Amino acid sequence: MTDVSNVGPRPDDDREVLTNRQGHPVYDNQNQRTIGARGPATLENYQFLEKISHFDRERIPERVVHARGTTAFGYFEAYGRLGDEPISAFTRAKLFQEAGKRTPVAVRFSTVIGGRDSSESARDPRGFAVKFYTEDGNWDLVGNNLAVFFIRDAIKFPDVIHSLKPDPVTFRQEPNRIFDFMSQTPECIHMLVNLFSPRGIPADYRHQQGFGVNTYKWVNEQGETCLVKYHWMPKQGVRSMTAADAAAVQAEELGHATKDLRDAIERGEYPEWELLVQTMSDEEHPELDFDPLDDTKVWPENRFPARPVGRMVLDECLGNNFAENEQIAFGTGVLIDGLDFSDDKMLIGRTFSYSDTQRYRVGPNYLQLPVNQPKHGRVRTNQRDGLMTYYVDQGGENPHVNYEPSITGGLREGEFPTHDEQGPTITGRLTRKRIPRTNDYVQAGQRYLLMHDWERDDLVHNLVTMLSQCERPIQERMVWHFLLAEDDLGLRVGEGLGIGPDDVAHLEPLASQDLTDEDRARLEKLG
Ligand code: HEM
Repeated sequence: MTDVSNVGPRPDDDREVLTNRQGHPVYDNQNQRTIGARGPATLENYQFLEKISHFDRERIPERVVHARGTTAFGYFEAYGRLGDEPISAFTRAKLFQEAGKRTPVAVRFSTVIGGRDSSESARDPRGFAVKFYTEDGNWDLVGNNLAVFFIRDAIKFPDVIHSLKPDPVTFRQEPNRIFDFMSQTPECIHMLVNLFSPRGIPADYRHQQGFGVNTYKWVNEQGETCLVKYHWMPKQGVRSMTAADAAAVQAEELGHATKDLRDAIERGEYPEWELLVQTMSDEEHPELDFDPLDDTKVWPENRFPARPVGRMVLDECLGNNFAENEQIAFGTGVLIDGLDFSDDKMLIGRTFSYSDTQRYRVGPNYLQLPVNQPKHGRVRTNQRDGLMTYYVDQGGENPHVNYEPSITGGLREGEFPTHDEQGPTITGRLTRKRIPRTNDYVQAGQRYLLMHDWERDDLVHNLVTMLSQCERPIQERMVWHFLLAEDDLGLRVGEGLGIGPDDVAHLEPLASQDLTDEDRARLEKLG
């Protein structure tokens, strides 16, 4: 007779019984089935084989960027206004219209470059991705904690990320590779001045800002469009860490920011952010010294004030990391009626990339997963099948009709929106060209001048620490860029590296850049 004395429930144990995935009760989860106590094992060992083969498949590919992160849930509450004006004058998006209207949200915060288990105190932009589960379906606002980005054309994204990721041979993040790329990419100077300042290491996720970075559009009931930029401001305030603070945190804990967010929500200290929006009329704005579609630029707030439209509160922790954090999928293409794309070349490239990677990373039916499904807008499509189909997006009375048009049932097209055509007319030739008004340095210099003294000291210290690990020609080119952005910045970084203006005066502008008159005047001073 089988000896079962070492298995099975204690008489007073009323917990639910473990089953396998077929719903069969498991009465021994300690021993596989063998011939005799010492084996061998049998191949019909269904329970063991199912358990181990599911385990073998537990991991999916991590995100190619933003792999480390955490998700929390809450709501967005609209003010019904854009500052002092009725919001309906700008957008017809329903979630913004009524004061006090709440829309559930999921928010994922992340770091960009490290892997899934990497340190949360690295110098790195932080992701700030918000999924609004609106009555018209989902809207994703996929932003970062820094207001600008490294590059302005999506075709450069794999390059900038490769330079920042570990070296393919040494598998170490190498300053020389990073600044090799950056020194040849002048548009990244504004981002570098932000990233190497204290803002490059937020204290945690609750004390960071969020920015949509790219330029989007709003559309009102009349079909009129305007350009918009989004900003999240934390009610908790903004806090950052110096490299020394971050090293101390990292020595104790790799996931301090995830822990901080969960602990705060569990204590009932719900973090809150206000959403502010800058608007600009939908045109090229030749009067500006930058292009409104250039994500390496900010819009000056004295001319384009950031006006509040609502607030967001996070009051619920995730229940399962894999289901709600690994599998959640955001994308810049996920817009609702009243919101639209601009022609920002980064935004358009991003919009392809997100759903493309998610079909690979999570699977073609990733939108059927509970965390990604629209919660209010009902899904009815003629898309069918594929790996891991969870249910049929059935619509209409007739299950035989999974095509359109049909006179026998199935789904029909919706009503045309009141104004289908929107925005200015666009004409042009197919081409491959940089945008005019690249103006790579002026805002980087202004940002430097706006900093407190201690922030400038920290920026210079961080840049010198990284650049001193680079080869001399790369150091010289970076000093050259910083001198063009702001004399004091260039002189101080140069001093830290033993490179003076005379040492870089021989450098010619890069073929990939356009200089302004102001840049040329600065160059003349050098040489
Ligand atoms: C994640 C592509 C620029 C913010 C990702 C992912 C890809 C990607 C492939 C992984 C998505 C996933 O696996 O689910 C790109 C491309 C860009 C670009 C091609 C430029 C052309 C930006 C910019 C921002 C940004 C400018 C900030 C405004 C994010 C965030 C995530 C992310 C926050 C993480 C989303 C999450 O938490 O799941 N990006 N990205 N990206 N990206 Fe970008």
